[in-house]
Amino acid sequence: MISQNIKKQIVEQTNIVEVVGEVVKLTKKGSSYFGLCPFHNDKHPSMSVSEKVKMFNCFSCNTKGNVIYFVSRYNNISEDQATIILAKRLGIEISDASSKEALKEERLLKVMNDATNFYEFYLHNTEEGVKAKAYLTSRGITDEIIKDLRIGLASSESNLLNQALKKNNHSELDQVELGLVKIDNKDQAYDVFRNRIIFPIENNNGQVVGFSGRIYTKSDQAKYINSSESAIFHKGQILYNFHKATPTIRSNDKIIIFEGFMDVIAAKKAQIPYGVATMGTALTQEHVKNILSLTKNIVLCFDGDSAGIHAMKRSAFVFANYHIIPKAIVLPNNLDPDEYLKAYGSQALNNYFSQNEKNVYQWLYDLAKKDFIKGDLESVERFKKEVFECVRCSKENTIIEHFIKMLASDIEISFESLMNDFGKIANFQPTLKPDDLPKNRVTTPKEVRIKRKIFIAYDVLLKHMVYSKLKFIEFMDKMGDELYIDSSLTTYFEIIKKMEVFYAENELMDEQDFLNIAKSLDLPNKTNDYYVFAKRILDNKMINLNDSDEFEQCLNTIQKCWSDLSKTRLYNKALSSGNIEDIQKFESLRKENVKVMSKEEK
Ligand code: UTP
Ligand code: MN
Repeated sequence: MISQNIKKQIVEQTNIVEVVGEVVKLTKKGSSYFGLCPFHNDKHPSMSVSEKVKMFNCFSCNTKGNVIYFVSRYNNISEDQATIILAKRLGIEISDASSKEALKEERLLKVMNDATNFYEFYLHNTEEGVKAKAYLTSRGITDEIIKDLRIGLASSESNLLNQALKKNNHSELDQVELGLVKIDNKDQAYDVFRNRIIFPIENNNGQVVGFSGRIYTKSDQAKYINSSESAIFHKGQILYNFHKATPTIRSNDKIIIFEGFMDVIAAKKAQIPYGVATMGTALTQEHVKNILSLTKNIVLCFDGDSAGIHAMKRSAFVFANYHIIPKAIVLPNNLDPDEYLKAYGSQALNNYFSQNEKNVYQWLYDLAKKDFIKGDLESVERFKKEVFECVRCSKENTIIEHFIKMLASDIEISFESLMNDFGKIANFQPTLKPDDLPKNRVTTPKEVRIKRKIFIAYDVLLKHMVYSKLKFIEFMDKMGDELYIDSSLTTYFEIIKKMEVFYAENELMDEQDFLNIAKSLDLPNKTNDYYVFAKRILDNKMINLNDSDEFEQCLNTIQKCWSDLSKTRLYNKALSSGNIEDIQKFESLRKENVKVMSKEEK
């Protein structure tokens, strides 16, 4: 935290009229200036700014404060970040200890910016780039969009980015921290993004903090891979296009939440600039807080497949915590917005969006009703269970009562007895998370400790995936690539490969199927290694299949562990190099990292 003293100093020295005047047109009246308030849909100038009292004040929506507050609200950033930006304007160096973290952040942002430039350059100036551009063109992504979104290309070679960043004097540790580079078990650095089209991901301040890379040539690897979590990239807090869309979300008082990049781009083409994307992850409280600071009119637009429906339910649930009922739009025939635009054109997509919003609970209700057959007991139970599950999440008695009444009339059962059933369903008990497991002894070498954590998390993921194809798909999307990296994961890798084949043909797997898969991997003349392995996972009672957060958390744990592992290897490498300068430089960087890490863990 930056001290109040420093903040006071910054406020006093900054000319607030100048700062506000850069983003709002101001006209002088008396001793104050007036302009349209950016924090509500202002028709007549109702915000005053006074250099004398160093404040802004909107008479209409009552937002007021000093220049730090203005900059943080306007750009959706923390007051600390706003303070640093304003300090820079004044040429003041914040030498407070608190600014150390900010300095590191700034350094990492610089690495990301250089990497973005490198990827952009590579797309526009190489033979590989010609091919990648042809792909982008075939998908309707124009040069203008490429420039606007800073789309780039990662080469197919093993470490061009690593080399380029080193030339710019960026440490390998920072590159690893940012998930751009990994160190293999021969201590060689290699680029994580290879042979992929790069979509830079911006934070709420418009700075690039992460990347997503899409395959564009035939490949059996995951379609997209994303930067792992880092000191500046927290996927659970960032929505794609949020920064760019902020002004239009405000002015339209509306946001549409999509699943992917291509959806956001399609919406832009259809004159809907206020779209953002979760990038395939679950919507979090942090996302929602960011969104609600701009608008309360939320539209969810997810794919109509089972993953999309799952995401719809989860998202409705997160918004319910804030007593917000989102709208839902799902395009016909399982098309995503990009596919719809390609098939019917941008005007049709725009029309569809303006005519098909539906209350999300109503949408889920109608969906559940589709499979309902009057008089068929089994389908009545399924319908009932679905509706209970959805409305329970809403937390609003009005919603619960409304839909249970509707259900009562649809299945011809009395409202009272349904409410009675509704009250009876037990809540699931949360159990241990991998991070709560007994901590390993300090004497174990660091690398072993990290790996053990990874294995525990993989166990959890694997068991979840036996019982849920949806989770299996989610895992493959996010982690598919990780499995290639380390030979100690071979057992998981082999089993998961077989599971993929199984799931390609079947919707459901049971314990026996899973054991059969494991058995099929055992060599006839060898002991039943895989079978024992599979049995151990199934029998692990600490894994709670009803806890979806446990699954998400393990996905995150693994990503963090991989980056820790690379750092450890890098450290060992520096130590064994014997180069004093290297070691000293590394030590100072490492100390800084440890500090930031332990702060996060609090
Ligand atoms: P989709 O599979 O719907 O991709 O995943 P898309 O947006 O339609 O992309 P195209 O049209 O195939 O190019 C939705 C989002 O989920 C994330 C990405 O952010 C994607 O935009 N995702 C998907 C991943 O992170 N990894 C994957 O392997 C797939
Ligand atoms: Mn698509």
